[in-house]
Parts: sequence; C-alpha cells; structure tokens
Amino acid sequence: MSEPTQNIADLRKSYERAELNEEASNADPMKQFDQWLNEAISGQVPEPNAMTLATVADNGRPSTRLVLIKAYDERGIVWYTNYDSRKGRELASNAFAALQFHWVELERVVRIEGVVEKVSAEESDAYFHSRPLDSRIGAWASPQSEVISGRSVLVTNAAKYGVKFMLQPPRPPHWGGYRLVPDAWQFWQGRRSRLHDRLRYTPQDGGGWLRERLAP
Ligand SMILES: Cc1cc2nc3c(=O)[nH]c(=O)nc-3n(C[C@H](O)[C@H](O)[C@H](O)COP(=O)(O)O)c2cc1C
Repeated sequence: MSEPTQNIADLRKSYERAELNEEASNADPMKQFDQWLNEAISGQVPEPNAMTLATVADNGRPSTRLVLIKAYDERGIVWYTNYDSRKGRELASNAFAALQFHWVELERVVRIEGVVEKVSAEESDAYFHSRPLDSRIGAWASPQSEVISGRSVLVTNAAKYGVKFMLQPPRPPHWGGYRLVPDAWQFWQGRRSRLHDRLRYTPQDGGGWLRERLAP
C-alpha cells in the first residue's frame, strides 16, 4: 500500500449549500427529479446524466455499474445497453432494480427503485439511429460483459461491421432501452453537522405520493 497523502479516515466535508423540505419539494417525485437534474445540468456538474444502476442476479447477489439516462417522463427512466450484458441477463431473471444519481457539487443524491421493462422496439430504433456512427458500430463490435482475448477483438470487430454496414448499421437485436418504472424515490440534500435532509416518496392507494422525512 502506498503512503497516503492524507489519512482517509480524516477526509470529511460539511454540506451547506442548500436545504430540502416538505413544503418546497414537489408533490410529484418525477417533477422534483426533473428540477434537480436540470439544476445539475445548468450548474455544470460533471456528467450530470450518469447514474448507478443496481441489479440483482437470481442467486441474490447484487451488482452495480454506471449508465447514462437518455429519457424520462411520467412512465419512468430510460437508458440503453446490451440486452445480453450481465445487467441484461440479471434484469431478465429479476426485474427489480435501483438507480442512484450523485451530484457532488450540489451535495445531492436521488435514489429510485422499481421494476424494469424493455422500451418498445420503435423507441430503441429511434434512439439508436440518433447516435453517432462509431457508437452504432460499437454496439455491434462489443459483446458486452463477455471475456475477450484482447483489445484487438474490438478493433477487428469494429472494422468488420464498419465494412459490412457502411453508413447504415441497423440496431442490433441484442441492443436497446430499458425503462425503470419507479415505485420508491428518495431525495437527499446534504446539511451541516450530518443532519441531512431526506425525503422519501411512496405511492398512495388513491393515487399521488406520500412524502415522508427520513432520519439521515
Ligand atoms: C459515465 C459512464 C456512463 C456509462 N453509460 C453506459 C450506458 O449508458 N450503457 C451501457 O451499456 N454502459 C454504460 N457504461 C459502461 C457500464 O458502466 C458498464 O461497464 C457496462 O454497461 C457493462 O456492465 P455489466 O457487465 O454490468 O452489464 C458507462 C460507463 C460510465 C463510466
């Protein structure tokens, strides 16, 4: 282990930028999320669209990775990936998943849980064809999550599919979007002295969402 420049046990910061309360927060968690995501984008937070996706394998073992949010509306939150990847296989056997955004500069976290479904083929096609050409070829070239013998496999595959499809690669059948349909939200705003603000949203029987404060 290298000599630390600073003892990590002494690394801590005080969160003082903002507050989140029951009165000022939106009654609709998707609208609250929309506001915070837009503040992260306009605040020039690095990679504000990056979210951690947690899935659980059928043996109960969880795993996480980063993905990019590509769309959201009242139906849920959408990202794109390889359906045969580890996350794709795990979602095929267990559709429950969780997402987390961490906007460091804003001292904010959003946690979202729910059930994941595939987006429609039309929606995946539309997004796939909006991507740059090298990304579209890359979707063919990368057998995501598989062991490969070296980087040359990717380079060779990219050249092969580049020649095969030229400027018109179709969407690979194993590539497309997922939508997480939220049934639980949490919004976290860092505060002084570790007395952070946390609001949880839970769906109510008659419609709408119950907003509750959780101890930090
Ligand atoms: C900031 C960031 C964004 C990413 N976005 C995506 C994405 O949208 N879709 C994707 O399939 N992989 C994305 N990746 C790569 C994944 O984190 C991961 O390596 C890959 O999806 C394989 O994960 P899996 O083997 O667990 O299925 C991203 C990585 C980073 C660092």
